[in-house]
Amino acid sequence: MTFTGKDFGRDFKWGVAAAAYQTEGGWQADGKGKSVWDVFTKVKGKIFENQNGDIACDFYARYTRDLELMARLGIKNFRFSLSWSRIIPNGTGRVNPMGIEFYNRVIDTCLKHGIEPWITLYHWDLPHELEKRGGWTNREIVNWFGDYVSLCARYFGDRVKNWMILNEPMVFTGAGYFLGVHAPGRKGLSSFLASIHHAALCQAEGGRIMRSVVNDARIGTTFSCSYIQPYSDSGADFLAAQRVDALLNRTFVEPLAGLGYPVKDLKLLQRLEPWVKDGDEGKLAFKMDFVGVQNYTREIVARSVITPLMWAKVIKPEKRNVETTVMNWEVYPESIYHMLRRFSKYSSFKEIIVSESGAAFPDKLADGRVHDDKRTEYLENHLKQVLKAKQEGMNVNGYFVWSFTDNFEWAEGYKPRFGLVSIDYATQERIVKDSGYWYSSFIRESNRL
Ligand code: FCB
Repeated sequence: MTFTGKDFGRDFKWGVAAAAYQTEGGWQADGKGKSVWDVFTKVKGKIFENQNGDIACDFYARYTRDLELMARLGIKNFRFSLSWSRIIPNGTGRVNPMGIEFYNRVIDTCLKHGIEPWITLYHWDLPHELEKRGGWTNREIVNWFGDYVSLCARYFGDRVKNWMILNEPMVFTGAGYFLGVHAPGRKGLSSFLASIHHAALCQAEGGRIMRSVVNDARIGTTFSCSYIQPYSDSGADFLAAQRVDALLNRTFVEPLAGLGYPVKDLKLLQRLEPWVKDGDEGKLAFKMDFVGVQNYTREIVARSVITPLMWAKVIKPEKRNVETTVMNWEVYPESIYHMLRRFSKYSSFKEIIVSESGAAFPDKLADGRVHDDKRTEYLENHLKQVLKAKQEGMNVNGYFVWSFTDNFEWAEGYKPRFGLVSIDYATQERIVKDSGYWYSSFIRESNRL
């Protein structure tokens, strides 16, 4: 099947995505406060080769040229996040005018080029001062976050109409507060459960606040998700897969949709009770204009007696002899179709945006070009699945490639390269990869409609 962006229709939003900590650098520039990632990356042994995002892609200084390049490639939608501690250095209280100025310039430069800004309010870089007060485990975060959202809405809402409240709450609570492999590096069930409930309250409350200030905003929030399949057709593996699916794919979206936490399929979530106050159930729900679906792979799950709480284990791709990316994630394009199907069943969201999709492969620079055929193939195969979902009537209306440029991939450092544009970190030189040219011509077809 040959297909182009045109097949997705005139209103489909084609874009690229990025996040503040992964790209900006300027970690101490112009009055910015520290975030948990600024601190966590300095702890020896936490990040691949002890790398950090101090400089990253230097987007803070190079945004003009990066946005020019984006415009030249015909990309009309840019999803990026705001660094909370750049705007409010201590997380609450004093505002940093230089931080506001920076984002004003980024937004205005986007608009000048005809690029629509899509802002994520929180992409994991909590102000360090707030972490010292308990971070996501402290219920006060609902107020701290609310004030921050309201401030961003007032400063930027005149020009920015597309807002995403949180990025992948299951990842920042799971990796950051349960497994300790992401910032702030906390471990244990109670910090995990507390942070889940407070993040779930914030995603809805953030939506309400944004709506009250910018009433013509299109408001959404994003979710990580993986298509989960049982390892065998045994009942035990089926139930194990169901538990993992409930935890990874349903914990945050269902309370937002007014369905409450999926306790029936995952008893563990009953233990959220100590943090839940009277009246919270209603506060967890909010009618989003869209949900952002972020899917990279599938997982195969079997029952396990050695993993208490979940009684389930993931069968790693290397044991299954399947193709993987540099992240060691299986390449399985059908996964995105299944997840779109799943999310389209929640009647409380008007539409779905694929707010991240992409892959890291071992790119090679040769004669000033990066021939990254694997990435192009990955994107093409995933887009075919998105188109299939759309043609079957699912209301999916946008696709954002993760990512515009290579960037700092959290605990994996700079090793995985996800960009359509390659970065030489020694010189900060940008080179558009073949996949970038491919995406550009693929979406140009729809721009011409
Ligand atoms: C997602 C994150 C994003 C990026 C991609 C590869 O989970 O939202 O920041 O790291 O994975």
